Amino acid sequence: MRKGAESPTTDYATLSRRTFGSTSYQVTPVCVGCAPLGDLPEAFAYGVSEDQALATLRAAFGGAINFLDTAAIYGFGESERRIGKVLAELGGLPEGFVVATKADRDPDSNDFSGDQFKRSVEGSLERLGLDHLHYVYIHDPEHTTFEQIMKPSGPHEVLQDLREQGVIGGIGISGGPIDMLIRYVETGLFSAVETHNRYTLINRSAEPLLDVCVRLGVAVKNAAPYGSGILAKGPDSYARYAYHDAPPSIVDRTRRLAAICEEFNVPLIAAALQFSLRDPRVATTVVGMTRPERVQQTTELATMALPDGLWTALDAVGHDSEDPEANRFK
Ligand SMILES: NC(=O)c1ccc[n+]([C@@H]2O[C@H](COP(=O)([O-])OP(=O)(O)OC[C@H]3O[C@@H](n4cnc5c(N)ncnc54)[C@H](OP(=O)(O)O)[C@@H]3O)[C@@H](O)[C@H]2O)c1
Repeated sequence: MRKGAESPTTDYATLSRRTFGSTSYQVTPVCVGCAPLGDLPEAFAYGVSEDQALATLRAAFGGAINFLDTAAIYGFGESERRIGKVLAELGGLPEGFVVATKADRDPDSNDFSGDQFKRSVEGSLERLGLDHLHYVYIHDPEHTTFEQIMKPSGPHEVLQDLREQGVIGGIGISGGPIDMLIRYVETGLFSAVETHNRYTLINRSAEPLLDVCVRLGVAVKNAAPYGSGILAKGPDSYARYAYHDAPPSIVDRTRRLAAICEEFNVPLIAAALQFSLRDPRVATTVVGMTRPERVQQTTELATMALPDGLWTALDAVGHDSEDPEANRFK
């Protein structure tokens, strides 16, 4: 008999809404990630047509998840443009839906000035067809310095002004290196943080950030629970982690995780999603998807009851604590 077949089960995750950080927004513990909907073949190794993206977005706006995550830079505006098209069809944002985007550098010149961030937010409002953005994150500040982001009239101050004017609801910080995110969070000026590919079944290098956020009351968005795909599609179908070919150590670890899931008769993807959902330090988990059926699948995976013994068995495989992109920004 497979393990867990007769063990007590716990329904860790439901899609009931919770307050997001210090805001009054009520969001589901799962958020639709719209990076691949911007058509990013260099990151995902496959493209996404406009028709497929629009169909996915229509399903997302009609499903149980009420939170959506995008960025100005995804597909150089294409992700936001596609979201805006569907919102126009719907006559605006469905009641209760929360949209977060990210303000970006100029992709050509790497301009991280305050003026560029103002232009970025204006572009997002136009492409999305909205006059208010619930949340705006400063995106990928690893490509500049802390001083540049925080200086007078710099990106953070520009977003603060826009918040005071009521154009945006909250300010977050999102990016890769964990020490860098902790430094921003510890300023006390960001009510939310978005980390990616660093708190998964494979890699837990974001642990210190999660602890700091609990201490400071900062809402954590844990993005890429599938490590950009390997934990969703399996090491034989899609051996990529964090937008690059996965090294043998990650492929091997994923195979061992998959074997344990099989013993417990649990899909690897469900374990990968609920690993994040069950952690009380995580406010919401951001899942990338490019097919309409993913919305319902994700809802089912999030609410599937998993056997208690699974987590101890998966923990025994061990995990990486090194930054998965450590060698990329040197
Ligand atoms: N710096 C940042 O702030 C930052 C960085 C990274 C990510 N993010 C955000 O986090 C989101 C999530 O990250 P991600 O998209 O990179 O990676 P991810 O969520 O770990 O994985 C996305 C992959 O999982 C697949 N998938 C999802 N549901 C599936 C299902 N039910 N069955 C089979 N495959 C499934 C998708 O395939 P299909 O395409 O076939 O649906 C896609 O290939 C992004 O979209 C973005 O919004 C933010």
